[in-house]
Amino acid sequence: MTSINEQLIQGFQEALVKSFGEEFKEIDPQVTTARDLRHGDYQANIALPLAKKLGKNPREIAQIIINNLSLNNICESPTIGGPGFINLRLKSSYLESQLTSLYQNQRLGIKKVENADKVIVDFSSPNIAKEMHVGHLRSTIIGDCIARTLEFLGYDVLRLNHVGDWGTQFGMLITYLKEVYPDALTKADALEIGDLVNFYKQAKKRFDEDPKFQEAARDAVVKLQSGDKESLQAWQLLCDQSRREFQKIYDRLNVQLTERGESFYNPYLDDVIKALDKQGILEKDQGAQCVFLEGFTNKSGDPLPLIVQKSDGGYNYATTDLAALRYRIKEDKAKRIIYVTDAGQSNHFAQVFQVAEKANFLPDTVEVTHVPFGLVKGEDGKKLKTRSGETVKLKDLLDEAVNYARKDLENRLQSEERQESAAFINHVSETVGISAVKYADLSQNRISDYIFSYDKMLALQGNTAPYMLYAYARIQSISREGNIDYENLGENITILLKEETEIELGKYLLQLSETIKEVEKTLLPNRLCDYLYELSKKFNRFYENCPVLKSDEPVKTSRLLLCDLTARTLKLGLSLLGISVLERM
Ligand code: ARG
Repeated sequence: MTSINEQLIQGFQEALVKSFGEEFKEIDPQVTTARDLRHGDYQANIALPLAKKLGKNPREIAQIIINNLSLNNICESPTIGGPGFINLRLKSSYLESQLTSLYQNQRLGIKKVENADKVIVDFSSPNIAKEMHVGHLRSTIIGDCIARTLEFLGYDVLRLNHVGDWGTQFGMLITYLKEVYPDALTKADALEIGDLVNFYKQAKKRFDEDPKFQEAARDAVVKLQSGDKESLQAWQLLCDQSRREFQKIYDRLNVQLTERGESFYNPYLDDVIKALDKQGILEKDQGAQCVFLEGFTNKSGDPLPLIVQKSDGGYNYATTDLAALRYRIKEDKAKRIIYVTDAGQSNHFAQVFQVAEKANFLPDTVEVTHVPFGLVKGEDGKKLKTRSGETVKLKDLLDEAVNYARKDLENRLQSEERQESAAFINHVSETVGISAVKYADLSQNRISDYIFSYDKMLALQGNTAPYMLYAYARIQSISREGNIDYENLGENITILLKEETEIELGKYLLQLSETIKEVEKTLLPNRLCDYLYELSKKFNRFYENCPVLKSDEPVKTSRLLLCDLTARTLKLGLSLLGISVLERM
């Protein structure tokens, strides 16, 4: 089905040609949903820039366009507002037929893209033997939502976990491993280091206090980098241990990722330096190989370099990202590459992209985007910590959310005098708890810092996961009571819009595809959350004002279809956020 937006744009493009000639065919008529709903549902803003171009009065231009506009079966007669906006109000008959098509459409009107371009979403990306912290949780949740949305739109999405699995810290870790578990390597699977983060801390302590250990650690790095078999085995052991811990979190969040850590790009690092040299942009600065940047300066205003090879010959985070970028373009054939990390890495990515451009690594056909997000803070506005002042473990954080959800549920069951099985209680608590954490993160504009509050995210009122899940479950219970065979209605569907709140709901249901397009463009998941929240509020208003089950036919069936369409919209929208619905809760 063609979306309202597309039909309006087409109508305007025809009118522009009729009014001003063929050369105006490709002009964007600037159709948007109306800013002020009192004047209509949509508006076209093209008359203003066009008037400037043609040296005429914008209201006059608007009138010429209207005279040539044939959207009679879609809109009431257009009006001109303010300095020259063209206001459009959709006809009820048109809305009814659009809603009928929407109801029959499996994908709720969201078309697949014509070219299934390869898109890489680089997200989550924790570091081996270090804590997977709340920043990585944000990256995981936001990255997963972006990937789900692009997948649904039909892109060929590769979800990459750029794990920090390489670097000098491994010298220290391997040395410590040999010290405390001398036969870790000979006895296969005998290793149970348990908490790797603690292991890391102890290794660091040894490193800091013993010069002999330091020397051994440095030797170990050299050995590892030269491909020594035993060192690689020890490294692999450590990575496996971390990987198992990470996987528990991914399973719980239901997030799929393909691991391709930093070490994967080791064979391609030399080539990066060679290519930069060949382009003539490599310069030596205090022994290090660098590329000087534009727009990045130090305090005294001198241009800053991006270091790509340290004076000891070692490579760094930036070198790896340059190698990864080349690989993703050349081998993966990616057309769009999206990096989801905290805003603290914005400079890093801007610099890597700039160097890639200068070095001709980045063709015009490829778009690279850093998707930054703000910090996670505690309710005191400071860095999120446990009561005893330690960093919060992700597992504990998720457990706590689930516990909150469980307590809420048990209270509710008690006050409603309901009996439910343990399996039901477990399932609902886990779903609500995890969804609450995800939704709280996604419903914020990701650029802002985000205050982590169990009370807020688990509240049954407001823009929260429990509210959305509850809205869905409630609509489903109405649908169940309606007892019609939704799946086998065939062509025999009529949706009628009579009451004001019913028309409002109907119009809004038709805006899902525009919303998803918006998320595709801006990579802002909160746009989708806002839409879903607004939708459930519109549904509530409709339900308060329009009897469903007590109406006579054909209104009763029509309203049941609106209920069902609302539920399907919520379910699809939430699934793109990585949230699965509950039929009962
Ligand atoms: N491991 C990094 C960190 O923990 C994030 C990696 C992001 N991806 C990338 N291609 N640099 O901060």
